Amino acid sequence: MSMSNSEDINYDKALHYWSEIPATVDGVLGGFGFISDVDITGSVQFLNNLFLLENRPGTDVALDCGAGIGRITKHLLAPRFERVDVIEPDKKFLVELLNFVGEEKNKVGTLYHNSLQDFQPEKKYDIIWNQWVLGYLKDEDLVSYLIKCSDSLSKNGIIVVKENVTSSGVSEADKLDSSVTRSLKQYTKIFKNANLKRIKQSKQINFPNGIYPVYMFALIPNKEDEPTT
Ligand SMILES: C[S@@+](CC[C@H](N)C(=O)[O-])C[C@H]1O[C@@H](n2cnc3c(N)ncnc32)[C@H](O)[C@@H]1O
Repeated sequence: MSMSNSEDINYDKALHYWSEIPATVDGVLGGFGFISDVDITGSVQFLNNLFLLENRPGTDVALDCGAGIGRITKHLLAPRFERVDVIEPDKKFLVELLNFVGEEKNKVGTLYHNSLQDFQPEKKYDIIWNQWVLGYLKDEDLVSYLIKCSDSLSKNGIIVVKENVTSSGVSEADKLDSSVTRSLKQYTKIFKNANLKRIKQSKQINFPNGIYPVYMFALIPNKEDEPTT
């Protein structure tokens, strides 16, 4: 069943697009390197609020998904977790990651050179952070991936999704990098299909005008469907 127009996504084309992008903050943010600090500030606030939950997640190990050069690992996750694993399909970004992360690089654990649609988590994670990457996955692959993430959360673990959403209410395809920007409603449906419960949602503030609205979602496995034996 199609939820967005993501069936036109071509994984090879997206990887080829990224293979030609420089391994810099400006590169991974498509020329919007100047929004990185505001982005991280919003993410720190969101994550801090998750640590205030009664069933708060642990701080042992986080996973940075579609990590690029490790912008989020460096500024958000490594300072707050004992270890951060990363997944990134572009080799050049992975090579730059340890250099970019700098002083916090002792916190970096396994570097998975892989795409999310092919990833099979081997461990349990307290936080699985997905940012500006889920638009590269076809709907069906995204649902399967989120189910795999859900199965690899530690006790009180949380999946975080931080993504652009359309203001038009329908998905918009980008042929250049072979991605799709989904609407809030489409994400809601995808989370539901992956049997995830949204426990928190915030809109990123202080971003420049003229870019897509960016939302953060905190998701946990929906236990209601499980038998209570
Ligand atoms: C816009 S950048 C964001 C990087 C990082 N999340 C950040 O916010 O700084 C998108 C990243 O997703 C990666 N990517 C593209 N398609 C992917 C896929 N199918 N699976 C995993 N990562 C992918 C790209 O190589 C690139 O590093």
